[in-house]
Amino acid sequence: MVKFNPQATVTRYTQTAIVFHWIIAVFVIFNVFLAWSFDYWPEKNAQIGSDLHKSIGITVFGLALMRILWRLSHQPPPLAAYVKPWEARTARIAHIVLYVLIVIMPLSGWLYDSAWKDGAAHPIHYFGLFDFPRLSFIVDQPANIKKQYDAFFGGMHTKFAYVIYALVLLHIAGALKHQFIDKKPELQRMSLKG
Ligand code: HEM
Repeated sequence: MVKFNPQATVTRYTQTAIVFHWIIAVFVIFNVFLAWSFDYWPEKNAQIGSDLHKSIGITVFGLALMRILWRLSHQPPPLAAYVKPWEARTARIAHIVLYVLIVIMPLSGWLYDSAWKDGAAHPIHYFGLFDFPRLSFIVDQPANIKKQYDAFFGGMHTKFAYVIYALVLLHIAGALKHQFIDKKPELQRMSLKG
């Protein structure tokens, strides 16, 4: 059982930062598992899974842009004093790359999907509410060019996914190390309740 000093002051992120962090984290992780499950969906329901993946991804894209704008105008709390200099450097780089990934991961998916040869027959139903547009500068290309875009952006989407796997694991490992090995109140910094 880990014991924390109740007198210690925890410097917390703001409520807005915490809400952005957890909604985006849950959506990204859910979307990764959803993508891994695609091969096991029965043919007749495959479109539902695919639309769900795209709808969540598009939502992440919007939230990520809002989060970055918000972050540019709001300073996060300083890293805790117990964080070693090399850990602080690693964390800063990982955080910047994670910000970039939550934008380019959905963007590469949207570019990839816009190049899909059968896209016209399968509009993106955004959570079943309305049809989300594809990018016309790709959709309107001749079939041979679209095929090249499809391979290029599909490849990017897959490669960015590998970077996400590595960084999300590193990020979680870092937080858990401070919490359970160093026995510091790390998770409290990103939780709404103390
Ligand atoms: C949070 C954002 C997103 C994450 C984390 C994510 C993650 C993934 C992952 C891990 C894969 C499997 C890649 C592979 O192993 O080859 C995948 C496939 C795919 N994603 Fe995304 N994605 C996101 C957003 C989007 C968006 C916005 C779209 C389109 C509008 C999209 C369209 C696709 C498509 C078409 C596939 C291929 C499915 C198949 O193989 O049939 N993704 N995505």
